[in-house]
Amino acid sequence: MLKNSSEIDITRVTQSKIKDVDFENLTFGNVFTDHMLICDYKEGKWQKPIIKPYEPFLIDPSAKVFHYGQAIFEGMKAYKDENDDVWLFRPDQNLDRFNKSAIRLAMPEISEHIFIDGLKTLVDMERDWVKKGLGNTLYIRPFMIAIGSGVIAQPSTQYRFMIILSPARSYYSGEVKVTIAEHFSRAANGGIGAAKAAGNYSAQFYPQKLAQEQGFQQIIWTDDATHTKLEEAGTMNVFFRINDTIYTAPVSERILDGVTRKSLIELAKREGIKVEERSVLVDELVVAAKDGSLKEIFGAGTAAVVSPIVGFQYKETYYELPKTEDSIALQLKDKLTKIQYKLAEDTFGWTV
Ligand code: COI
Repeated sequence: MLKNSSEIDITRVTQSKIKDVDFENLTFGNVFTDHMLICDYKEGKWQKPIIKPYEPFLIDPSAKVFHYGQAIFEGMKAYKDENDDVWLFRPDQNLDRFNKSAIRLAMPEISEHIFIDGLKTLVDMERDWVKKGLGNTLYIRPFMIAIGSGVIAQPSTQYRFMIILSPARSYYSGEVKVTIAEHFSRAANGGIGAAKAAGNYSAQFYPQKLAQEQGFQQIIWTDDATHTKLEEAGTMNVFFRINDTIYTAPVSERILDGVTRKSLIELAKREGIKVEERSVLVDELVVAAKDGSLKEIFGAGTAAVVSPIVGFQYKETYYELPKTEDSIALQLKDKLTKIQYKLAEDTFGWTV
Protein backbone atom coordinates (compact mmCIF):
# COMPACT_ATOMS: atom_id res chain seq x y z
CA MET A 1 0.00 0.00 0.00
CA LEU A 2 1.06 3.57 -0.43
CA LYS A 3 2.34 4.79 2.89
CA ASN A 4 -0.14 7.61 3.15
CA SER A 5 -2.87 9.06 1.00
CA SER A 6 -0.85 12.21 0.23
CA GLU A 7 1.33 10.04 -2.04
CA ILE A 8 -1.51 9.58 -4.50
CA ASP A 9 -4.39 11.81 -5.50
CA ILE A 10 -7.61 9.88 -5.65
CA THR A 11 -10.85 11.04 -7.26
CA ARG A 12 -13.65 8.51 -7.09
CA VAL A 13 -16.58 7.98 -9.44
CA THR A 14 -19.92 9.17 -8.13
CA GLN A 15 -21.58 5.99 -9.31
CA SER A 16 -20.00 2.64 -10.18
CA LYS A 17 -20.88 1.06 -13.55
CA ILE A 18 -20.36 -2.45 -12.16
CA LYS A 19 -24.09 -3.24 -12.04
CA ASP A 20 -24.28 -2.90 -15.85
CA VAL A 21 -21.62 -5.59 -16.42
CA ASP A 22 -22.57 -9.13 -17.41
CA PHE A 23 -19.72 -11.01 -15.71
CA GLU A 24 -20.88 -14.34 -17.17
CA ASN A 25 -20.44 -13.21 -20.77
CA LEU A 26 -17.26 -11.20 -20.91
CA THR A 27 -15.20 -11.08 -24.07
CA PHE A 28 -11.55 -10.53 -23.29
CA GLY A 29 -10.42 -6.95 -22.78
CA ASN A 30 -13.60 -5.05 -23.59
CA VAL A 31 -14.93 -3.96 -20.20
CA PHE A 32 -12.96 -1.69 -17.87
CA THR A 33 -13.40 -0.89 -14.20
CA ASP A 34 -14.42 2.46 -12.74
CA HIS A 35 -10.95 3.91 -12.12
CA MET A 36 -7.51 4.14 -13.71
CA LEU A 37 -4.09 5.18 -12.51
CA ILE A 38 -2.08 7.85 -14.31
CA CYS A 39 1.44 9.05 -13.62
CA ASP A 40 3.20 11.49 -15.94
CA TYR A 41 6.91 11.92 -16.53
CA LYS A 42 8.18 15.37 -17.39
CA GLU A 43 11.22 17.57 -16.77
CA GLY A 44 13.24 14.46 -16.03
CA LYS A 45 11.09 13.02 -13.27
CA TRP A 46 7.95 11.11 -12.47
CA GLN A 47 5.14 13.27 -11.07
CA LYS A 48 2.64 12.34 -8.36
CA PRO A 49 0.40 9.43 -9.40
CA ILE A 50 -3.33 9.98 -9.57
CA ILE A 51 -6.28 7.62 -9.59
CA LYS A 52 -9.37 8.97 -11.31
CA PRO A 53 -12.50 7.77 -13.11
CA TYR A 54 -11.78 5.73 -16.25
CA GLU A 55 -12.29 8.03 -19.22
CA PRO A 56 -10.66 9.11 -22.51
CA PHE A 57 -7.95 11.77 -22.42
CA LEU A 58 -6.41 14.22 -24.88
CA ILE A 59 -2.94 13.91 -26.38
CA ASP A 60 -1.33 16.11 -29.00
CA PRO A 61 -1.67 14.59 -32.51
CA SER A 62 2.11 14.86 -32.93
CA ALA A 63 2.81 12.75 -29.81
CA LYS A 64 5.57 10.24 -30.50
CA VAL A 65 3.45 7.28 -29.54
CA PHE A 66 1.34 7.87 -32.66
CA HIS A 67 4.22 8.25 -35.09
CA TYR A 68 6.99 6.04 -33.78
CA GLY A 69 5.15 3.58 -31.57
CA GLN A 70 7.14 4.39 -28.45
CA ALA A 71 4.92 2.32 -26.18
CA ILE A 72 5.33 -0.64 -23.84
CA PHE A 73 2.95 -2.64 -21.67
CA GLU A 74 2.54 -5.51 -19.24
CA GLY A 75 -0.15 -8.13 -18.71
CA MET A 76 -0.96 -9.29 -15.19
CA LYS A 77 -3.96 -10.65 -13.29
CA ALA A 78 -5.61 -10.39 -9.87
CA TYR A 79 -7.48 -13.35 -8.37
CA LYS A 80 -9.99 -13.58 -5.51
CA ASP A 81 -9.81 -16.43 -3.01
CA GLU A 82 -12.64 -18.03 -1.01
CA ASN A 83 -12.12 -15.52 1.83
CA ASP A 84 -12.60 -12.55 -0.50
CA ASP A 85 -8.91 -11.68 -0.38
CA VAL A 86 -7.46 -10.46 -3.66
CA TRP A 87 -4.04 -11.69 -4.85
CA LEU A 88 -1.48 -10.65 -7.43
CA PHE A 89 0.86 -13.16 -9.04
CA ARG A 90 4.60 -12.36 -9.10
CA PRO A 91 4.14 -8.61 -9.72
CA ASP A 92 7.85 -8.05 -9.12
CA GLN A 93 8.54 -10.00 -12.33
CA ASN A 94 6.29 -7.68 -14.33
CA LEU A 95 7.92 -4.58 -12.89
CA ASP A 96 11.33 -5.97 -13.71
CA ARG A 97 10.35 -6.77 -17.30
CA PHE A 98 8.56 -3.43 -17.70
CA ASN A 99 11.75 -1.59 -16.81
CA LYS A 100 13.80 -3.75 -19.19
CA SER A 101 11.29 -2.92 -21.94
CA ALA A 102 11.52 0.77 -20.99
CA ILE A 103 15.32 0.74 -21.34
CA ARG A 104 15.11 -0.95 -24.76
CA LEU A 105 12.58 1.64 -26.01
CA ALA A 106 14.61 4.58 -24.58
CA MET A 107 11.89 5.33 -22.03
CA PRO A 108 12.34 6.17 -18.34
CA GLU A 109 12.27 3.36 -15.78
CA ILE A 110 9.55 3.48 -13.16
CA SER A 111 9.82 2.92 -9.40
CA GLU A 112 8.38 0.03 -7.46
CA HIS A 113 6.49 2.63 -5.50
CA ILE A 114 4.52 3.91 -8.51
CA PHE A 115 4.10 0.55 -10.27
CA ILE A 116 3.48 -1.89 -7.41
CA ASP A 117 2.07 0.37 -4.72
CA GLY A 118 -0.07 2.24 -7.23
CA LEU A 119 -1.33 -1.07 -8.59
CA LYS A 120 -2.20 -2.38 -5.13
CA THR A 121 -4.12 0.80 -4.30
CA LEU A 122 -6.04 0.69 -7.58
CA VAL A 123 -6.85 -3.03 -7.35
CA ASP A 124 -7.93 -2.60 -3.74
CA MET A 125 -10.37 0.15 -4.81
CA GLU A 126 -11.76 -2.16 -7.51
CA ARG A 127 -11.91 -5.37 -5.47
CA ASP A 128 -15.64 -5.82 -6.19
CA TRP A 129 -14.71 -6.26 -9.86
CA VAL A 130 -12.65 -9.36 -9.02
CA LYS A 131 -15.12 -12.22 -8.93
CA LYS A 132 -14.62 -15.41 -6.98
CA GLY A 133 -14.25 -18.79 -8.65
CA LEU A 134 -11.73 -20.44 -10.94
CA GLY A 135 -11.55 -18.69 -14.29
CA ASN A 136 -12.66 -15.30 -13.01
CA THR A 137 -9.85 -12.76 -13.01
CA LEU A 138 -9.15 -9.09 -13.21
CA TYR A 139 -6.76 -8.53 -16.12
CA ILE A 140 -4.32 -5.73 -15.33
CA ARG A 141 -2.80 -3.68 -18.10
CA PRO A 142 0.02 -1.33 -17.02
CA PHE A 143 1.45 0.62 -19.97
CA MET A 144 3.60 3.59 -20.86
CA ILE A 145 3.29 5.84 -23.90
CA ALA A 146 5.37 8.71 -25.25
CA ILE A 147 3.19 11.81 -25.03
CA GLY A 148 5.79 14.43 -25.92
CA SER A 149 4.83 16.34 -29.06
CA GLY A 150 6.82 16.77 -32.27
CA VAL A 151 7.36 14.41 -35.17
CA ILE A 152 11.14 14.46 -35.03
CA ALA A 153 12.24 10.82 -34.74
CA GLN A 154 13.80 11.00 -31.31
CA PRO A 155 12.76 9.66 -27.93
CA SER A 156 10.10 11.74 -26.22
CA THR A 157 10.88 13.78 -23.13
CA GLN A 158 7.37 13.26 -21.74
CA TYR A 159 5.65 9.99 -20.93
CA ARG A 160 2.44 8.75 -19.40
CA PHE A 161 2.32 5.59 -17.28
CA MET A 162 -1.16 4.17 -16.76
CA ILE A 163 -2.86 1.14 -15.29
CA ILE A 164 -6.28 0.04 -16.47
CA LEU A 165 -8.19 -3.01 -15.26
CA SER A 166 -10.54 -5.34 -17.10
CA PRO A 167 -12.56 -8.22 -15.64
CA ALA A 168 -11.76 -11.26 -17.74
CA ARG A 169 -12.48 -14.92 -18.20
CA SER A 170 -10.86 -16.94 -20.98
CA TYR A 171 -8.77 -15.45 -23.79
CA TYR A 172 -9.53 -18.10 -26.40
CA SER A 173 -12.86 -19.75 -26.91
CA GLY A 174 -12.74 -23.03 -28.78
CA GLU A 175 -9.89 -25.04 -30.24
CA VAL A 176 -6.56 -23.49 -31.11
CA LYS A 177 -4.95 -24.65 -34.37
CA VAL A 178 -1.69 -23.09 -35.48
CA THR A 179 0.35 -22.70 -38.61
CA ILE A 180 4.15 -22.58 -38.56
CA ALA A 181 5.69 -19.39 -39.94
CA GLU A 182 7.70 -19.99 -43.09
CA HIS A 183 8.23 -16.38 -44.08
CA PHE A 184 7.14 -13.86 -41.44
CA SER A 185 8.95 -13.47 -38.11
CA ARG A 186 8.04 -12.00 -34.79
CA ALA A 187 11.51 -10.93 -33.75
CA ALA A 188 15.15 -10.78 -34.81
CA ASN A 189 18.42 -10.72 -32.91
CA GLY A 190 19.22 -7.14 -31.99
CA GLY A 191 15.54 -6.20 -32.28
CA ILE A 192 12.85 -5.67 -29.66
CA GLY A 193 11.43 -9.21 -29.41
CA ALA A 194 12.35 -9.58 -25.74
CA ALA A 195 10.60 -6.29 -24.86
CA LYS A 196 6.87 -6.05 -24.34
CA ALA A 197 6.72 -3.30 -26.93
CA ALA A 198 3.40 -2.43 -28.57
CA GLY A 199 4.96 -2.71 -32.04
CA ASN A 200 5.81 -6.38 -31.48
CA TYR A 201 2.09 -7.10 -31.36
CA SER A 202 0.88 -4.88 -34.19
CA ALA A 203 3.56 -6.40 -36.44
CA GLN A 204 1.84 -9.76 -35.92
CA PHE A 205 -1.59 -8.58 -37.02
CA TYR A 206 -1.07 -9.00 -40.76
CA PRO A 207 0.44 -12.52 -40.70
CA GLN A 208 -2.15 -13.46 -38.09
CA LYS A 209 -4.94 -12.21 -40.36
CA LEU A 210 -3.60 -14.36 -43.21
CA ALA A 211 -3.43 -17.37 -40.87
CA GLN A 212 -6.98 -16.78 -39.66
CA GLU A 213 -8.24 -16.66 -43.23
CA GLN A 214 -6.87 -20.21 -43.54
CA GLY A 215 -8.58 -21.34 -40.32
CA PHE A 216 -5.68 -21.02 -37.87
CA GLN A 217 -6.09 -19.06 -34.66
CA GLN A 218 -2.39 -18.47 -34.18
CA ILE A 219 1.04 -18.70 -35.75
CA ILE A 220 4.02 -20.53 -34.32
CA TRP A 221 6.86 -18.13 -34.95
CA THR A 222 10.18 -19.42 -36.19
CA ASP A 223 13.59 -17.72 -36.03
CA ASP A 224 14.00 -14.96 -38.59
CA ALA A 225 17.34 -16.15 -39.97
CA THR A 226 16.54 -19.75 -40.92
CA HIS A 227 12.87 -20.39 -40.04
CA THR A 228 13.97 -23.72 -38.63
CA LYS A 229 13.64 -23.10 -34.87
CA LEU A 230 10.29 -22.89 -33.10
CA GLU A 231 10.08 -19.78 -30.96
CA GLU A 232 6.68 -18.54 -29.72
CA ALA A 233 2.99 -19.12 -30.45
CA GLY A 234 1.09 -15.95 -31.33
CA THR A 235 1.29 -13.74 -28.25
CA MET A 236 2.41 -16.58 -25.99
CA ASN A 237 5.50 -18.62 -25.19
CA VAL A 238 5.18 -22.15 -26.48
CA PHE A 239 5.94 -25.61 -25.06
CA PHE A 240 6.24 -28.92 -26.90
CA ARG A 241 5.89 -32.27 -25.21
CA ILE A 242 7.84 -34.99 -26.98
CA ASN A 243 7.44 -38.31 -25.16
CA ASP A 244 7.60 -37.26 -21.52
CA THR A 245 9.82 -34.20 -21.78
CA ILE A 246 8.57 -30.67 -22.29
CA TYR A 247 10.68 -28.25 -24.31
CA THR A 248 10.51 -24.50 -24.68
CA ALA A 249 12.87 -22.08 -26.41
CA PRO A 250 15.41 -20.43 -24.10
CA VAL A 251 14.89 -16.76 -23.30
CA SER A 252 16.91 -14.69 -25.75
CA GLU A 253 16.79 -11.41 -27.64
CA ARG A 254 13.95 -12.95 -29.65
CA ILE A 255 11.96 -14.61 -26.89
CA LEU A 256 9.85 -12.90 -24.25
CA ASP A 257 10.76 -13.79 -20.67
CA GLY A 258 7.20 -14.84 -19.86
CA VAL A 259 6.08 -14.99 -16.23
CA THR A 260 3.74 -17.91 -16.97
CA ARG A 261 6.54 -19.59 -18.94
CA LYS A 262 9.04 -19.39 -16.08
CA SER A 263 6.41 -20.39 -13.50
CA LEU A 264 5.47 -23.50 -15.52
CA ILE A 265 9.13 -24.47 -15.80
CA GLU A 266 9.58 -24.18 -12.03
CA LEU A 267 6.35 -26.08 -11.36
CA ALA A 268 7.28 -28.83 -13.82
CA LYS A 269 10.66 -29.27 -12.16
CA ARG A 270 9.01 -29.48 -8.75
CA GLU A 271 6.57 -32.09 -10.05
CA GLY A 272 9.43 -34.19 -11.44
CA ILE A 273 8.42 -33.51 -15.06
CA LYS A 274 11.42 -33.40 -17.38
CA VAL A 275 11.78 -29.92 -18.85
CA GLU A 276 14.44 -28.59 -21.21
CA GLU A 277 14.95 -25.00 -22.29
CA ARG A 278 16.15 -25.51 -25.85
CA SER A 279 14.86 -24.70 -29.31
CA VAL A 280 12.86 -27.44 -30.96
CA LEU A 281 13.46 -27.62 -34.70
CA VAL A 282 10.58 -27.62 -37.16
CA ASP A 283 11.92 -30.82 -38.72
CA GLU A 284 12.11 -32.44 -35.31
CA LEU A 285 8.48 -31.52 -34.66
CA VAL A 286 7.32 -32.97 -37.97
CA VAL A 287 9.22 -36.23 -37.32
CA ALA A 288 7.77 -36.40 -33.78
CA ALA A 289 4.26 -35.77 -35.13
CA LYS A 290 4.70 -38.55 -37.68
CA ASP A 291 6.16 -41.15 -35.30
CA GLY A 292 3.67 -40.35 -32.52
CA SER A 293 6.21 -39.07 -29.96
CA LEU A 294 4.74 -35.55 -30.15
CA LYS A 295 2.13 -35.62 -27.42
CA GLU A 296 1.25 -31.98 -26.78
CA ILE A 297 1.85 -28.40 -27.81
CA PHE A 298 0.68 -25.59 -25.57
CA GLY A 299 0.96 -21.85 -25.37
CA ALA A 300 1.65 -20.09 -22.07
CA GLY A 301 0.91 -16.48 -21.22
CA THR A 302 -0.85 -14.34 -18.65
CA ALA A 303 -3.96 -13.70 -20.70
CA ALA A 304 -4.41 -17.24 -22.05
CA VAL A 305 -2.77 -19.03 -19.05
CA VAL A 306 -2.10 -22.44 -20.62
CA SER A 307 -3.63 -22.89 -24.04
CA PRO A 308 -3.55 -26.42 -25.52
CA ILE A 309 -3.02 -26.51 -29.28
CA VAL A 310 -4.86 -29.24 -31.15
CA GLY A 311 -2.77 -29.35 -34.32
CA PHE A 312 -0.34 -27.52 -36.57
CA GLN A 313 0.13 -26.92 -40.25
CA TYR A 314 3.52 -26.90 -41.94
CA LYS A 315 4.11 -26.66 -45.69
CA GLU A 316 0.47 -27.41 -46.60
CA THR A 317 0.26 -30.48 -44.36
CA TYR A 318 -1.87 -30.43 -41.21
CA TYR A 319 -0.77 -32.60 -38.28
CA GLU A 320 -3.46 -33.36 -35.70
CA LEU A 321 -2.21 -34.02 -32.19
CA PRO A 322 -3.32 -37.17 -30.37
CA LYS A 323 -5.87 -36.86 -27.53
CA THR A 324 -3.96 -37.33 -24.28
CA GLU A 325 -5.39 -38.80 -21.08
CA ASP A 326 -2.46 -37.50 -19.03
CA SER A 327 -2.05 -33.98 -20.38
CA ILE A 328 0.99 -32.26 -18.84
CA ALA A 329 -0.40 -28.93 -20.03
CA LEU A 330 -3.59 -29.42 -18.03
CA GLN A 331 -1.71 -30.76 -15.00
CA LEU A 332 0.54 -27.71 -14.93
CA LYS A 333 -2.38 -25.36 -15.54
CA ASP A 334 -4.21 -26.91 -12.62
CA LYS A 335 -1.20 -26.55 -10.29
CA LEU A 336 -0.61 -22.98 -11.38
CA THR A 337 -4.20 -21.78 -11.07
CA LYS A 338 -4.60 -23.44 -7.67
CA ILE A 339 -1.64 -21.39 -6.44
CA GLN A 340 -3.03 -18.22 -8.02
CA TYR A 341 -6.46 -18.68 -6.39
CA LYS A 342 -4.93 -19.80 -3.07
CA LEU A 343 -6.48 -23.25 -3.37
CA ALA A 344 -3.05 -24.82 -2.87
CA GLU A 345 -0.14 -23.82 -0.71
CA ASP A 346 2.16 -21.36 -2.45
CA THR A 347 5.52 -22.86 -1.52
CA PHE A 348 7.25 -20.59 -4.05
CA GLY A 349 6.06 -17.34 -2.42
CA TRP A 350 4.63 -16.13 -5.76
CA THR A 351 1.32 -14.68 -4.53
CA VAL A 352 1.15 -11.16 -3.12
C1 COI B 1 -0.68 -11.40 -21.93
O1 COI B 1 -0.72 -12.62 -22.03
O2 COI B 1 -0.94 -10.79 -20.90
C2 COI B 1 -0.25 -10.59 -23.05
O3 COI B 1 0.37 -9.61 -22.84
C3 COI B 1 -0.69 -10.92 -24.39
C4 COI B 1 -1.69 -9.90 -24.84
C5 COI B 1 -1.56 -9.71 -26.28
C6 COI B 1 -3.08 -10.21 -24.44
